Amino acid sequence: MSLILGLETSCDETAAAVVRDGRSVLSNVIATQHDLHERYAGVVPEIASRAHLERITPTIREALAQARVEMAELDAIAVGHRPGLIGSLLVGVSAAKALAWSLGTPIIGVDHILAHLHAGQLESEPVVFPSLGLVVSGGHTSLFLMRNGVDVDLLGRTIDDAVGEAFDKAAAILQLGFPGGPNIDRLAQQGDDRAHDFPVTLFDRESLDFSFSGLKTSLLYAVCGQPVGRGMEARLMRDASSLSVKEKADFAASFQRAAVTAVIKKLKRAMPRYPEVRSLLVGGGVIANSRLRTELTSLATHHKFDLRLPRMDFCLDNAAMIAGLADVMLQAGRTDDWTLSASTQSSIVAA
Ligand code: KG4
Ligand code: ZN
Repeated sequence: MSLILGLETSCDETAAAVVRDGRSVLSNVIATQHDLHERYAGVVPEIASRAHLERITPTIREALAQARVEMAELDAIAVGHRPGLIGSLLVGVSAAKALAWSLGTPIIGVDHILAHLHAGQLESEPVVFPSLGLVVSGGHTSLFLMRNGVDVDLLGRTIDDAVGEAFDKAAAILQLGFPGGPNIDRLAQQGDDRAHDFPVTLFDRESLDFSFSGLKTSLLYAVCGQPVGRGMEARLMRDASSLSVKEKADFAASFQRAAVTAVIKKLKRAMPRYPEVRSLLVGGGVIANSRLRTELTSLATHHKFDLRLPRMDFCLDNAAMIAGLADVMLQAGRTDDWTLSASTQSSIVAA
């Protein structure tokens, strides 16, 4: 039996969670900073790291209190140490080191991308590997072949924007506020998804890579018109302020159809190539998208795959996924020492 405290500070959520045996979530506390970043329409790294510093200790206290666990009962401290904003990651890593040192427990550095893929096993049965793994978040869009929870091969990734980033930029173009994904999702429900035919980039038949910048630019030109002038002098004709709610909803629904189709088509390509794989682990903020959840469910039912759709609160950045995967690492003896440091890069996705 293991009782692990996980910490997550890679971007703009300060999170702490206590997880038993890698799957049973005793607490999952998330202090979001969205209000601090909203007026900049994106995460400001310096503001994020200062806010983590203020929030980390109360968040840890709250996670322990909700779990009714004393510090001395913990078997290990886990921390998401890569990838992410360096100043933000360092707050979590420093807090984890201080705790592990004072308690005399092992410290475990967890890759945030792999942790997203563990989210579907929280409060659920263990999955049978090998699996396909899909991460779709604000920073990443990647497809993996997973031998287990930590040993994975990268099959494809975005060559430009992450899908969540495209959702956020689409919301900015439509003047819907930050973070954009949930706003596009909500508005799309009132829109006609066939109103506009946006491009879905698939590359050649072999490729499992993704691209979302063409889709984003198509939306920009559809909403704001083609730019007039050249280079630094180029100007857009109009902005979204003249659009009615119905027109915005049609853009949101059509954009969302194209973005989700791009993801689903790559899974359809990958599935028959690995006949030994019968399970699909998915994670990252965009898994909260209602259309993507519906289409993933139909795809998995059709191909008889064991799909692990994480609960909504386990899709967005959280520390339960960090503590959960740390249990797998602890059982495999993959703990760290005091040289553990933060990195902006994932160990599994090339820069
Ligand atoms: O995993 P996450 O919390 O942070 C990263 O590791 O990036 O993902 C955040 C991303 C944001 O781009 C956000 O707009 C997107 O997930 N997102 C959504 C939805 N909810 C969050 N995108 C589409 N539909 C949603 N419902
Ligand atoms: Zn994330």
